[in-house]
Amino acid sequence: MQITHTIPEMRAAVHALRQPTPRTVGFVPTMGALHEGHRSLLRAARKRCGIVAASIFVNPTQFGPKEDFSRYPRTFDDDCRMLEEERVDVLYAPNAEEMYPAGASTVIRVEGISDRLDGASRPGHFYGVATVVAKLFNIVQPDVAFFGQKDAVQGAVLRRMVRDLDMPVELAICPIVREADGLALSSRNRYLSPDERRQALVLSRALQAAESLAEHGDHNATPLLEAMRQIFAAEPAVKVDYLAIVDSDTLLPVESTQAGVLVAVAAHVGSTRLIDNLLIAGKS
Ligand code: PAJ
Repeated sequence: MQITHTIPEMRAAVHALRQPTPRTVGFVPTMGALHEGHRSLLRAARKRCGIVAASIFVNPTQFGPKEDFSRYPRTFDDDCRMLEEERVDVLYAPNAEEMYPAGASTVIRVEGISDRLDGASRPGHFYGVATVVAKLFNIVQPDVAFFGQKDAVQGAVLRRMVRDLDMPVELAICPIVREADGLALSSRNRYLSPDERRQALVLSRALQAAESLAEHGDHNATPLLEAMRQIFAAEPAVKVDYLAIVDSDTLLPVESTQAGVLVAVAAHVGSTRLIDNLLIAGKS
């Protein structure tokens, strides 16, 4: 695997890899601290594309002033091992100066969607995400970019950005990878104490309850939300940020839980904020 740190190096590397026959470039952007969720994206990219590029960049502009930027896990050597195992062709690992030269003043704001759900709790977060992902797309110029359903709101923001700005890239959204007991994998899970790790299962438990109600024909959002609230009430140490049943593109609340509707949750377990979600499956 080639490792690049600057924009010209990365552009030249991808350009050379594309030659001589045109090959599709798959791209997996990450903030590192890689786990099996990231691995699933790398595998999806490897399966579909001739060339696989990845990036590791802990993007400062998507962290709020009181958030965990400085203590976000940085495990570059282990990450490179996983990228090698998954036969990634080229890694882009810039520093902050490379991505944000002095005077950088352009920001992408996907209005509306960026301020819903996680965007409401983390003001400005999705401006940071959209801007860095747009920049990474311009640097790597991928044909297909792979993201996880785990970050459903991020997916909605980026889908809208790509559509509105006519970006020549296809977004592939891959399923959530979970631990055997249901906890969605996250780089932030390593912050959890053993007690918190157990408490954190309430997120997936609440979603499973909503899913089974929906499968048994309850198509109203209100009872699903109520069932989820009750499950959280049994784990009082966990503080709910939001419980929502929304349209998966607009992120606006819906009353009827048809196929494709997003059931999403965010909660604080100790000082760690966790998110999880499910898409209501449909017969149609
Ligand atoms: P990061 O949190 O490192 O996640 C990188 C990708 O891995 C995202 O698309 C995320 O949805 C996916 N992912 C995380 N956990 C997953 C899981 N359990 N199952 C499946 N996929 C999972 O998301 C970001 O980084 C950043 O916001 C980024 C897009 C890189 C922009 O800075």
